[in-house]
Amino acid sequence: MKLQNANSNEEMGRLAADIFTDAIRAKPDIVLGLATGSTPLTLYGELIRRYGEGIADFSEVKTVNLDEYVGLAGSHNQSYRYFMDENLFNYINIDMGDTFLPDGLAEDLKAECERYNEVIDSLGGVDLQLLGIGLNGHLGFNEPSDAFSSRTQVVELTESTINANSRFFSNPSDVPRLAITMGIQDIMQAKKIILVASAGKKDIVGKAMNGEITPQVPASILQKHPDVTIILSEE
Ligand code: PGA
Repeated sequence: MKLQNANSNEEMGRLAADIFTDAIRAKPDIVLGLATGSTPLTLYGELIRRYGEGIADFSEVKTVNLDEYVGLAGSHNQSYRYFMDENLFNYINIDMGDTFLPDGLAEDLKAECERYNEVIDSLGGVDLQLLGIGLNGHLGFNEPSDAFSSRTQVVELTESTINANSRFFSNPSDVPRLAITMGIQDIMQAKKIILVASAGKKDIVGKAMNGEITPQVPASILQKHPDVTIILSEE
């Protein structure tokens, strides 16, 4: 695992954007695995800026997101579909039909997980996966547990994650209790992984990089991946 330190969240976004724009240039129809949360925002802002300057072209890019809340429509302002549209997709030249997220309103959640696995497989897997990390070491919504998960699945969110995410909801009881997330196996199959983290995540990043590899710290599995870069902001 490689660690890059950034002095600010803006620098973290620029360093990550350098990797993304180089990868898109090398493979214009690249499959990007994308993440939501506060930490990727400076990266997405930088990608929008670079698109505006003609440095990045998303016309052939495909994206698959890590996760989505169960029970929220894509039009709900806390859904991850809404987040992606508002923070990236609406401002770049990506074909919306090439942007994939799990459907949080699917009636049959198990079938929806299978459909999502088929989407990932039909794209040929993820070339470049962006990750954040939870304070509890989660990746996507793969929470600490007794075993590393395999493929896309429905998960119950932990209290730690519900508390962390309640800041985005007017009422903490509105935070969904269930989500659909890509599995750890899906994440590990990405060819290259970039994990972005702000200073508040320093301790859990240290555990993930140097601690025991255990499903109690889901991100620790990344020690087994051949191409992971962690960009840690001091801010
Ligand atoms: P954050 O979320 O970027 O909002 O801190 C990251 C995560 O929980 O995976």
